[in-house]
Amino acid sequence: MDIKLDIKNLNGFIDKSEWKAIEPDVEKVHQDLINKTGQGNDFTGWVDLPSQISDSLIDELESFGEEVRAHSDCLINIGIGGSYLGVRATMEFLIADQKIPIHYAGNNLSSGYLFHLLESLKDKHVTVVVVSKSGTTTECALAFRIIKKFMQEKYSPEELKKHIICATDAHRGALKKIADQEGYKTYPIYDDVGGRFSVLCPAGLVSLAIAGIDIRQLVEGARVAEKKFMTPSVEKNIAHQYAAARFLLHQKGKKIEVLSTFYQRLSYIAEWWKQLFGESEGKDGKGTFPASLNLTADLHSMGQMMQEGERNVFETFLMVEDSGHKMIIPKDDQNLDNFNCVAGKDLDFVNKQAHKATAEAHYEGGVPNMTIMLPSCNAHALGQLYYFFQKAVATTGYLMGVNPFNQPGVEAYKKKMFALLGRK
Ligand code: PA5
Repeated sequence: MDIKLDIKNLNGFIDKSEWKAIEPDVEKVHQDLINKTGQGNDFTGWVDLPSQISDSLIDELESFGEEVRAHSDCLINIGIGGSYLGVRATMEFLIADQKIPIHYAGNNLSSGYLFHLLESLKDKHVTVVVVSKSGTTTECALAFRIIKKFMQEKYSPEELKKHIICATDAHRGALKKIADQEGYKTYPIYDDVGGRFSVLCPAGLVSLAIAGIDIRQLVEGARVAEKKFMTPSVEKNIAHQYAAARFLLHQKGKKIEVLSTFYQRLSYIAEWWKQLFGESEGKDGKGTFPASLNLTADLHSMGQMMQEGERNVFETFLMVEDSGHKMIIPKDDQNLDNFNCVAGKDLDFVNKQAHKATAEAHYEGGVPNMTIMLPSCNAHALGQLYYFFQKAVATTGYLMGVNPFNQPGVEAYKKKMFALLGRK
């Protein structure tokens, strides 16, 4: 089952002639991407990554995952940004498939957070996957120093080789050096794939395989999407439709996109999406600002702003057709809350009506919106979604005239922080 995009709530905001006029630009951008003739073309390895991943690599990762689970109670994934969010988003979405718990470190600089994490793992068998392409990212490097000491107190140097895995650049960088010196197993983030596009690299897949996620289906979903979103047309390719709509809406003053999710398990996908879109587009004074809402909770806070605030926003709803669980609403004889109208129905039925009502109300309130519909909560659907968003952001980035694959802006604060820390 494929993911779908509903664009009917763009009517009146984008007209037929605009869809038609953008078609040749999208086709050109598509060719630039697949022929590697656009900006940042040395970082477009993600385009055919799903079809390049061999079944033997998946076999190897799966059996390595089993081996690690046999001697570990849990996993710590150390990483930040693209080296963290893909793993976390996948784990939160596929929580039911998790075979051992996964904890996260290196995504903040909070002493309290790390203190409590390590306290809780004192008596556990722990395996660590440290993910960093550069190996020098502050949060990740410092967390690894602290956690490595914790692990050295637990295990002998020989045992440590079974319990520490480094996911990093295949050839260079500080982490690669540490791994080579200490004899830790390594998995690569490929040279031509940037952090935020790396969830399907071995570096991302290894933590997921250890946690017990069906990485074969995740990759298979992405392969299906790679093939499907190879069509140049805007009309027949929903990744291009979404990208073109975002670009046209931005040109009309809709400078903020809100990704609204109606399921808890989707909220880290929204975090991953914000990083992917924010770092890819926000440069040269350009870019749509990506924000997200957790619905229906945020309808009781940000709902007011969405309905009646400044009309510089468009919204993308992320929904799931089959949410996987049933929670039947009981009948109440007294019916004091007057909700017997939905007695006997699944709570998800109400959630879906909430989505319909919100999409309609926001549309009537001047917020153009689209809905991405996932068929179900499984790895195959998620693989499709990852590829859909990657293809879309690269397309809008090129339409906007930016290089979607670099992030020069994130260096500015680092320079100042390193000066304060006395780091050369
Ligand atoms: O998408 C990106 O490139 C960034 O978000 C990086 O993933 C993030 O800064 C972490 O970098 P590194 O993997 O080098 O530690």
